[in-house]
Amino acid sequence: MDTVIYGSKYGSAKKYAQEVSEKTGFELKSYDEVNDINSFNTIIYIGSLYAGGVTGMQKTFKKLTKVKDKKIIIATVGIADPENKENTDHIKDGMKGQLSEEVFDHAKIFHLRGAIDYSKLSFKHSMMMKMLVKMVVAKLPEEKQNAETEAMLETYNKQVDFIDFETLKPLLECV
Ligand SMILES: Cc1cc2nc3c(=O)[nH]c(=O)nc-3n(C[C@H](O)[C@H](O)[C@H](O)COP(=O)(O)O)c2cc1C
Repeated sequence: MDTVIYGSKYGSAKKYAQEVSEKTGFELKSYDEVNDINSFNTIIYIGSLYAGGVTGMQKTFKKLTKVKDKKIIIATVGIADPENKENTDHIKDGMKGQLSEEVFDHAKIFHLRGAIDYSKLSFKHSMMMKMLVKMVVAKLPEEKQNAETEAMLETYNKQVDFIDFETLKPLLECV
């Protein structure tokens, strides 16, 4: 059996996962609905980024055995531009701490761009962004600013949607 699993809080990772499920015919599940991760041969995991953590990913892959017999594809969904290598290197560094070395080395990893609507954020997420953007990012000296911090400043308190199914092409070719 093959599956598309998503970890999503506001729906952008879910949208990408729905599209991949339609294109591949693989069944779609949220990470919290997965009972036995070892029952799948191909696992496509699409999860959104929260302070570098990929929603549900660590929990999902923790119980995986016989890693080398499986096809594993992981895509992150975040607001930082994945065309920028500095951003994707940073995301991958974070992922190393959330996966076993075996899973990290074996998985094909992709990065997608999501969406954010500040008016819909929970109180907790809204406060996290306020802390991060207003108190950390905005106070960084110019030489410490990068594509990721610029994107955060530009999108702060706005509604932006970078979801683009065309960017799924390399992932779908890999399946
Ligand atoms: C509290 C908070 C932390 C975030 N941290 C990151 C991050 O570390 N990197 C990133 O690229 N995007 C980050 N984002 C943006 C989300 O990843 C982006 O909005 C994503 O599309 C949300 O996906 P979802 O709707 O599936 O939950 C963050 C958003 C919030 C609200």
